[in-house]
Formats: sequence, structure tokens, C-alpha cells
Amino acid sequence: MIGVFDSGIGGLTVVRALKHHLPDYDILYFGDTARTPYGTKSPETVIQYAIEDAEMLLQKGAQMLVVACNTASSVATVTLKERLDVPILEVISPAVKMAVSDSKRTCVGIIGTRATVNSGVYEDKIKAVRPDMKVYGQPCPLLVPLVEEGWLEKGETRKIVKKYLHPLKLKQIDILILGCTHYPLLKKIIQAKIGKRVKVIDSSEALSDSVTDFLRRNPHVDSRLGKTGTRQFYVSDVTEQFQRIAKTILKTTVTLEHIRL
Ligand code: DGL
Repeated sequence: MIGVFDSGIGGLTVVRALKHHLPDYDILYFGDTARTPYGTKSPETVIQYAIEDAEMLLQKGAQMLVVACNTASSVATVTLKERLDVPILEVISPAVKMAVSDSKRTCVGIIGTRATVNSGVYEDKIKAVRPDMKVYGQPCPLLVPLVEEGWLEKGETRKIVKKYLHPLKLKQIDILILGCTHYPLLKKIIQAKIGKRVKVIDSSEALSDSVTDFLRRNPHVDSRLGKTGTRQFYVSDVTEQFQRIAKTILKTTVTLEHIRL
């Protein structure tokens, strides 16, 4: 099974992309809904939570891990890779790879939680390959609660997106990375506000491309994974709102099973 974890329900955007690219693969999802959000917490706390999330998935039988949460990927990947002896794919590197491979573009904007933007991970990874690129981060803390309220099309959401993107527009970015699980749900508004000429990179899509590529290059891992199209969804707290967001993202009703960490 491919184990996917996130701070909550937003990581289902990654499951949605994985389902599209790898429809037969068994997926075990864990959303830490009891402790969400991670984006406002300190790196130490997020690292501790990420270790517990990952260990829970391994106990349930995951043979590889996908860190869907941008915040956890930003601050906890190094520790997870040091401690755990399974392949771990995180959500930052694939989006960075996509950004740096576009040789005509030189100015990248990153939007994400405060923890993700403050970590500077996107900038470090981009500059390591393309020192010529300019990178600007913009935390957008209000977007997660707006998505969780289901305010996907509201005028207020458009205004807030516009306000957050304004500084990046002034910098004339030509690439924008959606560095948070929730932002793919606002992609249309974001693209409209930042402008057509800006290439918007959806990190959940980039990640599932990278998982597909990893499995092609690592048949010994691939052959151990179940391919019956089974999907199980565990969360550390179940509420009606989480059920509703899950349905919005996956466009089908799924059973969220409660599990205590
Ligand atoms: N999953 C988080 C991320 O992608 C967003 C929600 C949170 O702050 O926990 O950064």
C-alpha cells in the first residue's frame, strides 16, 4: 500500500491526483484532523506529529510513504528520511523540479502556510539548481479556513486571493507554485488573479507524476505494492465538516475511519 499523510483532509487533493495517475494502486490515507492545522505550528511540533503520522501508516502496512502536506514536507522530510527505512516522497521537490526545468522563466512565487514559507525550503531547492531564479514567498494563512468552509467561489475569497497575490504580481513572477494541499481547489481563482501568462504549478499533480516515475524506476518497490484499487481513509477526528470537505475534493462520499494515535 502507498501510505499518504497530511495534517488533515486537504491531502486528499494528492489522493485525487494519485487516483488519476495510478488508479489500481492501494492507498492508505491518514489525516491528522484532531491536530490540524500544522501550518501555524512550530517546526519541532510538526516534526513530532509527522513522525507519529508516518509510524501509524507503517504499522497499518504501508510499504512507502507520500507526504502530502506541504508544511510537514518542508520541515520534517529530513528527520523522516533519517528515521524510517521506507521510500519517502514529499511534495516540495516535484514542484521545484517542474519550476526549474522551464528555462525561459526566471521569477517564481511560492504561496503556502506560514510554516512552509518561513522554512525557506522551496527557495533553497530552487536556488540550488537555478541560482539565476528569483524566488518570492507569500504566506496565505486565510486560504485554508476559506477552503474548509467551502467558500470556493465566494466574492470574499476572490478578494483575499487578489490581496495575497498583489505583492507577487508587483514582482512580475512568471511561475507560481501552489505550495499547500488546499490551494488546488482555488486554482481557477488563483490563475485568474495572477494572470494568464503566469504558469501555475499544482504541487499535488507534480507529486503524483513523481510517484509514478519513482515506481517505474524502482520495480522492487512497485512489485510489493497492492494493486486492487483499495482505498482506506483514517483520520484522528471525524466531524461532519471533514466528511463534507472530503466529498468536495474526491467528488464521492468516502468513509473516514477514526483512529487514535
Ligand atoms: N496541509 C497543510 C499544508 O499543505 C495545510 C493545512 C495546515 O496548515 O495544516 O501545508
